[in-house]
Amino acid sequence: MDVNKEILKLDWEREPKGLYAPIAYTLAAGGKRVRPQLAMIGSQLFGGKDEEVLPAALALEVFHNFTLLHDDVMDKAEVRRGRPTVHIQWNENTAILSGDQMMIEAYTLLSQVPERALARVLQLFNKMATEICEGQQYDVDFEQKSDVTIEEYLMMIRLKTSVLLANALQIGAYIAGASEEEQQAVYQFGINIGLAFQIQDDILDVWGDPKTFGKAVGGDIACNKKTFVYLEAMRRSGERAPQNASVFGDPAEEKGERLEAREELEDWYNQVLDDNKEKIARVKEIFEQLGVREACEQVVRDYTQRALDILETLPQNEASEELRKLAEKLLVRRV
Ligand code: IPE
Ligand code: IPE
Ligand code: MG
Ligand code: MG
Ligand code: MG
Repeated sequence: MDVNKEILKLDWEREPKGLYAPIAYTLAAGGKRVRPQLAMIGSQLFGGKDEEVLPAALALEVFHNFTLLHDDVMDKAEVRRGRPTVHIQWNENTAILSGDQMMIEAYTLLSQVPERALARVLQLFNKMATEICEGQQYDVDFEQKSDVTIEEYLMMIRLKTSVLLANALQIGAYIAGASEEEQQAVYQFGINIGLAFQIQDDILDVWGDPKTFGKAVGGDIACNKKTFVYLEAMRRSGERAPQNASVFGDPAEEKGERLEAREELEDWYNQVLDDNKEKIARVKEIFEQLGVREACEQVVRDYTQRALDILETLPQNEASEELRKLAEKLLVRRV
């Protein structure tokens, strides 16, 4: 079943246009459709019927798109999927209300899962939805917190990003009749793939090609987001340089230069500016000087590998092969 086609079949020709046109605009703009795919694969892994999980798969994608409308307001993001975001194309009120309506539509779709599964699916979905809000709040709180730790960051991205991917897999598996243990395994696969996914998103926010990425590059720097890229830069600039790995030349000078880089980074991240061009360019330079990108890419590979290890414990069939391919595709994604 082609979930993308099913999403595009959703009909938004309704009145008032001001409420529904932004929903149509958002869902027609593409996107990778990762979450509905995960729901379908989660079900297929355990021999489920596609049509039984489809309403949940659609609900997850509509819900994800709802979070993006609000997230783009919160992050002051002007471009998504290569187009102006809803709050730019229309206005913030539109992004709020059309977003709210998308959330309601998501629940309307979700309520169409087989009745035997509905109560549990709702419970799982609501837990996930609450966690996303919690993650989003941490993400915003961290903009103004200068001592965010890697552990806090991982907790935050697990909430804002991983649980949705994990939940998609679990709901699919649950509807297909998987055991609690199997549901937990696919959930953990989703958590790890989600951590990799968000760290990759953080990397692309700095080094992505705006044409393929579809979002403005440097947005996280402008907002002082404590992303993995930033935290890794802070970690590297704060520690003694590894021997024979000098990026600055003379090792004696090196530590001083690293500390200078750290101070400059901190200084930029204490500022909220109207024009972020110079800030983005300079911060990017410091990231590169510190060799942060490779380190982040390695962490993405590590979490992907953890997910793939979990996959080994699941039934091996066409669906698990598809899941493996999806994980590998996300690892090298540029969008
Ligand atoms: C964007 O999600 C939000 C994050 C969790 C980074 P996607 O990268 O899946 O966005 P689309 O749906 O493919 O556009
Ligand atoms: C996305 O985080 C998390 C949610 C939308 C819930 P980001 O803010 O990094 O996502 P993008 O980069 O705007 O897609
Ligand atoms: Mg955000
Ligand atoms: Mg954002
Ligand atoms: Mg991002």
